[in-house]
Amino acid sequence: MLHFSKKILFVGFGFVARCTLPVLLKHVRVRPEDITLIEFEPDEDAIRPWVEQGVKLVRAKLGPYNLGELLGQHVSAGDILIDLAWNIDCCEIVQWCHDHGVRYLNTSVELWDPYANSKGAHPTQMTLYWRHMQIRRMVEGWSSPGPTAVLEHGANPGLISHFTKNALLDIAQACLAERKLEGEQADRVAQHARDQAFNHLAHALGVKVIHCSERDTQISDQPKDVDEFVNTWSVEGFREEGTTTAEMGWGTHEKELPAFAYEHTDGPKSQICLARMGINTQVVSWVPSYTIIGMVVRHGEAFSITEKLSVRDESGATIYRPTVHYAYCPSDAAIASLWELRGKNYRLQPKLRIMTDEITRGGDILGALVMGHPLTSWWCGTDLSIEKSRQLVPHQNATTVQVAISVVAATMWMIENPERGVCLPDDLPHEYVLGIAKPYLGKFISTPSDWTPLKYYSNAFRGFNRPAIDASDTWQFKNFLLTDGD
Ligand SMILES: NC(=O)c1ccc[n+]([C@@H]2O[C@H](COP(=O)([O-])OP(=O)(O)OC[C@H]3O[C@@H](n4cnc5c(N)ncnc54)[C@H](O)[C@@H]3O)[C@@H](O)[C@H]2O)c1
Repeated sequence: MLHFSKKILFVGFGFVARCTLPVLLKHVRVRPEDITLIEFEPDEDAIRPWVEQGVKLVRAKLGPYNLGELLGQHVSAGDILIDLAWNIDCCEIVQWCHDHGVRYLNTSVELWDPYANSKGAHPTQMTLYWRHMQIRRMVEGWSSPGPTAVLEHGANPGLISHFTKNALLDIAQACLAERKLEGEQADRVAQHARDQAFNHLAHALGVKVIHCSERDTQISDQPKDVDEFVNTWSVEGFREEGTTTAEMGWGTHEKELPAFAYEHTDGPKSQICLARMGINTQVVSWVPSYTIIGMVVRHGEAFSITEKLSVRDESGATIYRPTVHYAYCPSDAAIASLWELRGKNYRLQPKLRIMTDEITRGGDILGALVMGHPLTSWWCGTDLSIEKSRQLVPHQNATTVQVAISVVAATMWMIENPERGVCLPDDLPHEYVLGIAKPYLGKFISTPSDWTPLKYYSNAFRGFNRPAIDASDTWQFKNFLLTDGD
């Protein structure tokens, strides 16, 4: 067991944090008196057992007006801050932690008010890519990397980067074992796999598209009510990311931009965004073992995986990168909630609910669907049932357990690696993270698949409409996207 003698501060003690704290204490020996929770709407029942053990509760809301003062009262050099609230400005809190020697972790890159200035703004300015460029500029101004700050290390973004690496290595091994590659290409793949040079490996394997494909099958005995948004994780977080631009890492194999696409003018220009909400941008995808319709909700992994898998030539020009994005099929109750939300012109329902004890069955199936290589497709990820997740952490659901174990694994890595500066999930060693996470992931699956977006394609009005399909080039984005003619 890892020992940590400094302080740990949680900002936000919602569903993910409540699942994280007990798991953290199974892996890290830290005195309860050295743990503080800042929460402005504490769930008394959830917090009481911790306070009784000596954990401190501070009833406060962290904001731009009190950030330095409030944080300064509870953490200092060498301590760790775990941010599991929503809408805390990432640049501001990371800069504060950098200046004060405090290690930091979050599961998504956010702003104080994501809706401020969004009316009439150019779509590119509303993107996660834009926020990542701001972080880059901030980090470039620092004289040293400073205390470790792991950004976006939940399930997705987070574990999905490690599933992708695991998949690439498994694809390489299977291709070599089955003699799907020959001569120089086989040698290159073997060498890149040995070196864990994942960008060169993806390039040499010919990977074109990576989905973070997720199907949440958790259902409950308490149906969604009228005027209620039901989800298996933060409703606020889902609405924020789902009702803004769809975003995706844009592969070098893509021939044409989709409708309403916008490209960036600065930075690596590795992504595009659509002037279309993520929840309204739907694609076909696959989880073991069926096709799903997923939403291209913008997520950090679309930025980081694309970036880390890019191959550049000596002049710095990008010669290879895959298309990467989320394909999210949430729980049935969340799908019904989104349907109602559209009817309300995207104004949030008055009642919000995150399902836990009322769940009767189902689970969360989440993994990297890596496509376009000699084995066609490969899926690597977790299939965690509600029963298994309850055995691991009582009163939680499969979705929060997947996030929590990722937070714990990254926190342990931070304890062992205190001075790495700002890191994305792809910067952490996948064997380390998955070694800690696997016992919490239910069925860990890494499997080939012959699925393609056109495998089950059908057209009810063939000959009478004009589907946007390129049958000669399977891995084009347009073949995944649901459009009017499909
Ligand atoms: N990367 C991933 O896989 C992943 C998955 C799920 C959730 N998340 C993110 O994790 C975060 C937490 O999610 P959750 O499901 O636990 O949400 P939640 O709504 O259950 O919990 C958030 C808690 O933070 C508190 N809070 C919010 N702002 C605060 C502030 N300024 N000061 C103090 N407390 C504050 C809220 O009162 C709430 O109790 C969200 O940002 C969400 O987007 C990431």
